[in-house]
Amino acid sequence: MNNSGEETIEMAKADQLQVEESSDGSKSTERGICYYLVTILSFLLFIITCPLSIFFCLKIVQEYERAVIFRLGRLLPGGAKGPGIFFILPCIDTYRKVDLRVVSFDVPPQEILTKDSVTVAVDAVVYFRIYNATISITNVADANRSTRLLAQTTLRNVLGTKSLSEILSERDNISHIMQTSLDEATDPWGVKVERVEVKDVRLPQQLQRAMAAEAEATREARAKVIAADGEMNASRSLKEAADIIAENPQAIQLRYLQTLTTISAEKSSTILFPLPINFLSRLIPERGEGRKTLSEQNQESKF
Ligand SMILES: *[C@@H]1O[C@H](CO)[C@@H](O)[C@H](O)[C@H]1NC(C)=O
Ligand SMILES: *[C@@H]1O[C@H](CO)[C@@H](O)[C@H](O)[C@H]1NC(C)=O
Ligand SMILES: *[C@@H]1O[C@H](CO)[C@@H](O)[C@H](O)[C@H]1NC(C)=O
Ligand SMILES: *[C@@H]1O[C@H](CO)[C@@H](O)[C@H](O)[C@H]1NC(C)=O
Repeated sequence: MNNSGEETIEMAKADQLQVEESSDGSKSTERGICYYLVTILSFLLFIITCPLSIFFCLKIVQEYERAVIFRLGRLLPGGAKGPGIFFILPCIDTYRKVDLRVVSFDVPPQEILTKDSVTVAVDAVVYFRIYNATISITNVADANRSTRLLAQTTLRNVLGTKSLSEILSERDNISHIMQTSLDEATDPWGVKVERVEVKDVRLPQQLQRAMAAEAEATREARAKVIAADGEMNASRSLKEAADIIAENPQAIQLRYLQTLTTISAEKSSTILFPLPINFLSRLIPERGEGRKTLSEQNQESKF
């Protein structure tokens, strides 16, 4: 694929060389007597029909346009005329306007087989302008259309050498490569490719689903690891706290009172009956003592 692209570029260059040679060769041949005779006749015609002929012979091109003039089929020396007013001789001059503004076009979505055998549909936008009006008329029949077609093939050629992950991650690089290779190829046409933007890379539905499932599974696995890690950290911290509390028996009492304070802070009307579990073991054989302890505890909690 890439090879064929290079071939087309080389062919374009070779054509360009031929065209240059022929135009240079024709320039060097002298213009015959006939040329001057017809030019003088045409000028006379202009003078005879003067007030009227001005309407036909004075032409205007806009700031962003140039006029390429052919006299008797030959390019006028001095390059393209414009912007503004210019003069053509009746009957023997023809001219063509060329727009020098930047033109953009969409490259239609191209189904491309990537290096790792995935079919993707890619579309792009290309911005170009004509930098030399003369050679855009003399070297190529339709600069617009040729640039369009070349952009399509270049897109295919460049992306055919990339794998899917490269296409997805290196868009800037791909745009840059496309721009330089397109610009090189269109140089003989007087066309400057300013920018190429890869717009959209569409994957086949099945692959999209598979990739989404893969991403989801990865995320889930990570979430599970984080949760387990957190649990481990929490239990370790709890163990540390328990060890510290166990160092001094007063600490658990203080902690106990603290808990009571936090509970009563929420609703001041809450009545608590704290019942230590280890008292229960004594409560069953000796009931009297147990009751006394309970009432004492009640008073404490109300306080
Ligand atoms: C356009 O190209 C022709 C032929 O190569 C050259 O003679 C001319 O100077 C160029 N014009 C501009 C504006 O560069
Ligand atoms: C290229 O296309 C633009 C806009 O569609 C147009 O103005 C321009 O004349 C075209 N140029 C040629 C050489 O056809
Ligand atoms: C583009 O990719 C090529 C090869 O993959 C690398 O050599 C080049 O540095 C990259 N350019 C940019 C601008 O990332
Ligand atoms: C658990 O503790 C380790 C080391 O102290 C720390 O690197 C990790 O981020 C903690 N995990 C969580 C989920 O906080």
